[in-house]
Amino acid sequence: MALRKIATLGHPILRQRARELSLEELLAPETQRFIDDLVETMRDANGAGLAATQVYEPLRICAVEVSNNPRYPYKPRVPLTVLINPVLTFLTDERFDNYEGCLSVPNLRGVVPRATVLRLLAWDREGNPIDREVRGLTAGTFQHEVDHLDGVLFVDRVQDTRTLTTWADFERFHMADFVARARALVERMGG
Ligand code: NI
Repeated sequence: MALRKIATLGHPILRQRARELSLEELLAPETQRFIDDLVETMRDANGAGLAATQVYEPLRICAVEVSNNPRYPYKPRVPLTVLINPVLTFLTDERFDNYEGCLSVPNLRGVVPRATVLRLLAWDREGNPIDREVRGLTAGTFQHEVDHLDGVLFVDRVQDTRTLTTWADFERFHMADFVARARALVERMGG
């Protein structure tokens, strides 16, 4: 396994639409090694998720994992989930104002409205079908990662640019209010 470099805001790879994989491509040893690298890189950087485009591979692969994350201490746990060719369908009109950050957008956070219930269709890394409902704050995490595969960054979805903040000022001025709202959402939605 190897750590990959993470592309940052301004690099054209982050604006590319990643392409679908065939089952044969997914099962190729090279792709399986890439997935190992993606997961290792996500964990090394304390990311809650990482998309292939962020490590310079324009393929529809992303990973999500949350376990006692120091960058996002309020997020509910999510076991390691690798998604291949994911498709999200929103199951509600409700949106939660989520304060997001991104490994490709260093030292910036901002509020993004995210659907609170969605249906996730994808393959796992072995090509087995995934079909599940994702709720609450976790639904926002999946939307953020799948956006990456379409060349969309969270800053594109910030509606009120006055919410943009450095991480230090997030903790100083916005975190208490946000964590209270996030905890209430997790309690209500179970995720
Ligand atoms: Ni990101």
